[in-house]
Amino acid sequence: MSRLDLKAFMQMKQRGEKITVLTAYDASFAQLFEQAGVEILLVGDSLGMVIQGHDSTRPVSLDDMVYHCRAVALTSQCCYIMADMPYHTYLQPTQTVENARRLVEQGGAQMVKLEGGREQLEVIEALVAAAIPVCGHLGLLPQSVTTPDGYKVQGRDAESAERILADAILLEQAGVSMLLLECVPAELAKRISQRVAVPVIGIGAGVDCDAQVLVSYDMLGISGGHKARFVHNFLRGNDSIEMAVQAYVQAVKDGRYPAAEHTYQ
Ligand code: KIV
Repeated sequence: MSRLDLKAFMQMKQRGEKITVLTAYDASFAQLFEQAGVEILLVGDSLGMVIQGHDSTRPVSLDDMVYHCRAVALTSQCCYIMADMPYHTYLQPTQTVENARRLVEQGGAQMVKLEGGREQLEVIEALVAAAIPVCGHLGLLPQSVTTPDGYKVQGRDAESAERILADAILLEQAGVSMLLLECVPAELAKRISQRVAVPVIGIGAGVDCDAQVLVSYDMLGISGGHKARFVHNFLRGNDSIEMAVQAYVQAVKDGRYPAAEHTYQ
């Protein structure tokens, strides 16, 4: 079995076939998600909350990410593996490339993801020059949120929407191979997905993105606390984790998830 690659995701976007993504942090879930048909596993720094018990992603270290990434990469045969670059690990180009190399060489990731717009062009260009594929992350940027009330929809007014769209174009020009949009109005996400050639992954960004991601612990209903509007518990009404994940994959593929009730205007 060969691993999915960026070419396959570009072709899926061109065909209008939705791409399925879930966060994974360990071997058992990675294997289960892969068998249920998930195509991309994101080793997200959301592990700071759902695994480590912190109240933000900021305390997650590069060593933590390498550890979890390795567990995911060792068990999955064909999923594409994306790893988050943790807070303060991509401050300048040389440091960014060294840190990303650890995620790729020691962790087994195929792609790294980092948060931010035009301020990240230099580090993105350095990663691309080092042949490390990059996913940009725009909209709500969890590493910039320091209080619980900071988790807000982004790009609701015309000025901030135009800025996010402009950032998406700049990131694509800098060489990102994918973009992730978090918590933005569906109409803005649709415009961006149509405007850029690279696949756009949405979370709280409406049904018109090329791909959907959820934090796996949220979609299985096993993380506590307040749930954002876009979160759906797929375990409810299904008898097993396998069935819940298959239901998620099918709902994304069919365009039934996210529905209007999961979407911001
Ligand atoms: O770390 C994470 O889980 C993320 C989500 C927004 C998908 O980046």
